[in-house]
Amino acid sequence: MVTLEQDKSTYINSMFGRIAKSYDFLNAVMTLNMHKLWKRDAINKASVNMPYLKKAKILDLCTGTGDMAFMWAEKPQVAKVMAIDSCLPMLERAERRQIKSKATNADKITFMEADALQLPFQDNNFDAITVGFGLRNVKDLDLALSEIHRVLKPEGFIASLDLGHPESGFVDSFYRGVFLKLMPLLGQVLAGDQAAYKYLIDSLETWPKQKDLSQMFWDKGFTRSYYKNIMFGTTAIVVAQK
Ligand SMILES: C[S@@+](CC[C@H](N)C(=O)[O-])C[C@H]1O[C@@H](n2cnc3c(N)ncnc32)[C@H](O)[C@@H]1O
Repeated sequence: MVTLEQDKSTYINSMFGRIAKSYDFLNAVMTLNMHKLWKRDAINKASVNMPYLKKAKILDLCTGTGDMAFMWAEKPQVAKVMAIDSCLPMLERAERRQIKSKATNADKITFMEADALQLPFQDNNFDAITVGFGLRNVKDLDLALSEIHRVLKPEGFIASLDLGHPESGFVDSFYRGVFLKLMPLLGQVLAGDQAAYKYLIDSLETWPKQKDLSQMFWDKGFTRSYYKNIMFGTTAIVVAQK
């Protein structure tokens, strides 16, 4: 088995392949289903231009089982949602959801296997981009931000929802010392995969603070960026406009 240190992309791909079946269930348990509210919040923050658009084209990066893609498709101003992921078992689950969906607007979504670091789209293509719990997993964050900047239309918004770093030392100690320590245990009990949920903790070591990620968007050439803390900063939405 390839280790995280040897090749992050291969490691991440096989890890999400292993947990694809239980991913939605674990997400619901670990966040008490609040992840859906946070995802809608991120989508609303990336939708600021929507009232002025008639046939908006959206990109959902690292779509996984497609939660955010389905939420985008509900919006009447949205004509097309491209939802990409590099892990086939996750995409298969998203496509199964689409087939089962009774909502006709689910037809607006195209699920596609693609790498966030090499997007198969032309420049200035999308009115808005979202990424849920995805950027933390890419091998090269700087390259991912360049690709987002390239394919987003001028004035378009990107919103990234992901884990964050609590700003209060007390909350951070509790979060790392107690809450995060439970994750591998929950992963073992509910998904039979302790390693995958230990990775969640390890991934925070190199993941920038929300304020620093926001600064990275500025540095990439976005015209504005800000962040919003959720649950004391254990999760955060970072927004930027091109
Ligand atoms: C934690 S899941 C998030 C899924 C979904 N966005 C959600 O919030 O429920 C992260 C997803 O990112 C995908 N991913 C990781 N690296 C990627 C890359 N370089 N390109 C495309 N997808 C990637 C994984 O396959 C996985 O499905």
